[in-house]
Amino acid sequence: MAKQRNASQSRSNALLSLLFRSAILVAVLSLALTYLNNSLWSRITERLGRDLDKYVRGSSSHVCRQAAKLSPTNTKSERFVRGKVESPAYHAEIIQKLSGIIQIPSESYDELGPIGTDDRWNVFYRIEAFIKSKYPKVLEKAVLEHANTHGLVLTWNGSLPSSQAKPLLMLAHQDVVPVLADTVQDWTHPPYQGHFDGEIIWGRGATDDKGYMISILESVDLLMKSGFEPKRTVILAFGCDEEISGENCGRPIADFLHRRYGDEGIYLIMDEGSMGIQKEFNQSFAMVSVAEKGYLDIGINVTSTGGHASTPPDHNVIGIMSEIVLAIEENAFPGRVTTKNPMFGFLECAAVHAPPSSMPLAVRKRLSSVARGDAHAETQLARDLDDMRYYFRTSQSVGKMSGGVKINAIPEIASSMVNLRLAVESSISLVQQHYENLVRPIAQKHGMVFEGFQSSYESTERRKVSLYGVDALEPAPVSPLDSESWRVLSGTIRNTLRPLDDDNELIVTPYLMPANTDTKFFWALTKNIYRFTPINLVENLNRAHTTNEFIRADEFVREPLFFATLILNADDAVQAGD
Ligand SMILES: *[C@@H]1O[C@H](CO)[C@@H](O)[C@H](O)[C@H]1NC(C)=O
Ligand SMILES: *[C@@H]1O[C@H](CO)[C@@H](O)[C@H](O)[C@H]1NC(C)=O
Ligand SMILES: *[C@@H]1O[C@H](CO)[C@@H](O)[C@H](O)[C@H]1NC(C)=O
Ligand SMILES: *[C@@H]1O[C@H](CO)[C@@H](O)[C@H](O)[C@H]1NC(C)=O
Ligand SMILES: [Zn+2]
Repeated sequence: MAKQRNASQSRSNALLSLLFRSAILVAVLSLALTYLNNSLWSRITERLGRDLDKYVRGSSSHVCRQAAKLSPTNTKSERFVRGKVESPAYHAEIIQKLSGIIQIPSESYDELGPIGTDDRWNVFYRIEAFIKSKYPKVLEKAVLEHANTHGLVLTWNGSLPSSQAKPLLMLAHQDVVPVLADTVQDWTHPPYQGHFDGEIIWGRGATDDKGYMISILESVDLLMKSGFEPKRTVILAFGCDEEISGENCGRPIADFLHRRYGDEGIYLIMDEGSMGIQKEFNQSFAMVSVAEKGYLDIGINVTSTGGHASTPPDHNVIGIMSEIVLAIEENAFPGRVTTKNPMFGFLECAAVHAPPSSMPLAVRKRLSSVARGDAHAETQLARDLDDMRYYFRTSQSVGKMSGGVKINAIPEIASSMVNLRLAVESSISLVQQHYENLVRPIAQKHGMVFEGFQSSYESTERRKVSLYGVDALEPAPVSPLDSESWRVLSGTIRNTLRPLDDDNELIVTPYLMPANTDTKFFWALTKNIYRFTPINLVENLNRAHTTNEFIRADEFVREPLFFATLILNADDAVQAGD
């Protein structure tokens, strides 16, 4: 009985403990479920859904959302400008102006002396005279001022002071890349004839950058003729040395405007672009460069004692320099696609808007990994997109090398120069560190003194390796895409420009400029710097610095519509605040 009772007692005990344990289990489970539901689970499903949906074409995601087409409220002026750019009489007029300004060979040379001492600058007086003679209305209503003689600044005052409506600034450059004497015969039409064959305007400067300059002037001229009176001041500024350093006009113009309007004193800056409207991934894009790569020239000197060639050291300065160059080339900068790069924004735009078949699924997946901050995917994506490699890395090119003067003498110095274009994530000091880390051990191995970038170069030691920097420019700050002026610019693009095929939409995308424009001097004036040429640059730009430069007339004659609409839309944005 006792046994029995014990047995029944232990049975009920077991039951109780089972019940108890089940209750705990249920409690724990439901707690876990609640926790999962509230935090983890929702995050898991959200992430899965986001990765699947983020780059799905036509999805309502926020990726590369396009601004609405923006029409000016001033329909009278807009109609006037539209009427003009659609009239054949106007076409003949504006083409003649472009042809006329091409006929002034305003070449800028690398070795030009300062303005006022080198007579080769005088050709720019002819450009100024040309503008004055063709645009009397502009000269009447806007004030022309000079920055260092040939930098031209035209200010069309708005009715509001710049403290209430920041001015809109449009840049162009008057100078062109010189035509080399022995390439003149390679031109189908002489470079400074400005020949128009009924379809195309030929000549040096047609796209770079006289077409842009004339279009800007036209836009202001047409708006003035339409009776428009801006609230927001409009400034046009034309450099004279964009193709060389920009020190003679580009910088003086920027300093002049900075003195007048101060930090962040400008609403937005437009300047020439490198891509314009172009088809990529089987989709038409308006590519607006919102950043530029940085620039750096690095010099390397290897010096040693000379001597007779019959008693040479195992490695003289030429051998050591060769070793350095080889080390540089074998340690190229790796490619990385990061979210800081405007090209990431471009890839997102392509992923969302281009035909799905045009972008491999693997690339889409890697894009979303990069978006989540996966560093490994950044490198892999750069590898996948190797045909666009220089947008994703710091490039380096050894462009000069010299050493030795006499075959029977041991050379005393070897020099070389490397040109680098810095990735947006990089900086001058990071690149310099990389070079110092590569070159220092080579100098040490050969028992030579090493002089890095920060040294005073005063060592009297004969056997040394020196690194020095010339012409350094940090990568440009990336213009924001959530600004009012980006909305105005992209809304204007979508309103006035067409895709390359009639069957698809023109998508506005951020892009990266691999080269530098005069905007490098204007960073303090505004964060909103846009480099964009409102035409199809596919063929046009390939010829910009070489023979047979041209611009298609049917595209050129529509450019003023874009710039005029931008001015009108930016004026409408005054009420919305800056
Ligand atoms: C999970 O959480 C969501 C909101 O966070 C709620 O709407 C839903 O009812 C929850 N589901 C369960 C089973 O608790
Ligand atoms: C333009 O406006 C500025 C400031 O409002 C003024 O100082 C200047 O005189 C004006 N220029 C003209 C030509 O009206
Ligand atoms: C590009 O897209 C068009 C339709 O938009 C399609 O007909 C064509 O085949 C595509 N071309 C390529 C190379 O994918
Ligand atoms: C490097 O060598 C060049 C001549 O080859 C000289 O002009 C220059 O001053 C040298 N620079 C340094 C830092 O040694
Ligand atoms: Zn240019």
